[in-house]
Amino acid sequence: MLSIRSLAAFAAGLSVVAAAPKAKQSTSSATAPASTTTSSCQGYFEPLAPPYLNEIAQANGKMYFGTATDQPGTGEDTNILYQEILNDTRIFGQVTPANYMKFFATEPEQGVFNFTGGQVVVDIAQDHGKVLRCHNLIWNSQLSDWVTEGNWTRETLTAAMKVHIQSLITHWGGTCYAWDVINEAFASNGSFSQSIWYDVIGPDYFPLAFQFAQEAVEATGQDIKLYYNDYGIENPNNKSAAVINMVNSLKSQGIRIDGVGLEAHYVVGSGTPSLADQKAIMDAYVATGVEVALTELDIRFNPDIVNATAYALQAQNYYDSVQACMQVEKCVGITVWDFDDQYSWIPQTFPGQGSATLYNADFTRKPAYYAVADALANQPCSVCTA
Ligand code: XIL
Repeated sequence: MLSIRSLAAFAAGLSVVAAAPKAKQSTSSATAPASTTTSSCQGYFEPLAPPYLNEIAQANGKMYFGTATDQPGTGEDTNILYQEILNDTRIFGQVTPANYMKFFATEPEQGVFNFTGGQVVVDIAQDHGKVLRCHNLIWNSQLSDWVTEGNWTRETLTAAMKVHIQSLITHWGGTCYAWDVINEAFASNGSFSQSIWYDVIGPDYFPLAFQFAQEAVEATGQDIKLYYNDYGIENPNNKSAAVINMVNSLKSQGIRIDGVGLEAHYVVGSGTPSLADQKAIMDAYVATGVEVALTELDIRFNPDIVNATAYALQAQNYYDSVQACMQVEKCVGITVWDFDDQYSWIPQTFPGQGSATLYNADFTRKPAYYAVADALANQPCSVCTA
């Protein structure tokens, strides 16, 4: 029988896979940090060794530490080591499908639903006892052509929006801990972004979407949390102020909203808000009566040039973000937007940028992994200086 190490070497496409941080130092991987990390356990195979992030998160009062995963058909589903790490609920206690619950995938033609891709991640959650965040219902990206090319009136598009929201919530029901009902609706100045929803329906599309979601959730009889999810709202600014206004407005109309998701796509260095700013804005959302979560955390290099000092700074940025959540009781959990550089969305979307996740492409761990473990344990960061 193949050992896990030979399976891992096969999966990673490598002839040698480091067994422990000591061995890692002697390899010449282009992406491995030159510095050492001290927190891994000797004798373990590093990609699967303690510390276990979800275990630590739960021991310290959080519901989960989790990850997005992009399956099927991306290579993740055939990479044995990727699967081993993903499925280990001691490391990741929550999953989010990165793409397959989006509009283009779930309603490719009007009224014709396809739940196959999304179900892959639902099954992973159920088979391994993980929390499932369902993502997302109404967004201006990754729409189906029939939506973007349709000849709509306010009434017909509102009806189509209602069918989409209610069909997905009803289909997956209580398997979803939460749904991101609306994704990325605001521009950085706090006004609504241009979108088919806003352009055709007007600002009412926002409360209407949450109202439709609420009706569907109530019909299931399950407690499914309804979230607004966005980036650039992780510190006090015009956009986060608009989100707070909107939450207050929904609540004043008796429309349910349960959570604000802070995507937390950051850039190493000046692109990451301070711990104090992240905590302050989470406290401000919580004060409106919602819970919060970090929903898509990754911290990329721009440009993607790394060395030991850079990795230590990235570790500090991860540490601060996770600590901010730890310091806010109603921050329920943290999700990274996939965990290995081989599968990160960053290089495709932001050419020249990268190395944003907790694991190098060869599944060795970065200092950031150990920084997250320290932050979850409310310990000082042991890897944040080079
Ligand atoms: C990204 C996926 O990871 C990519 O594979 C896809 O090409 C584009 O979308 N904000 C979100 C996520 O809410 O849905 C996005 O996911 C990343 C930014």
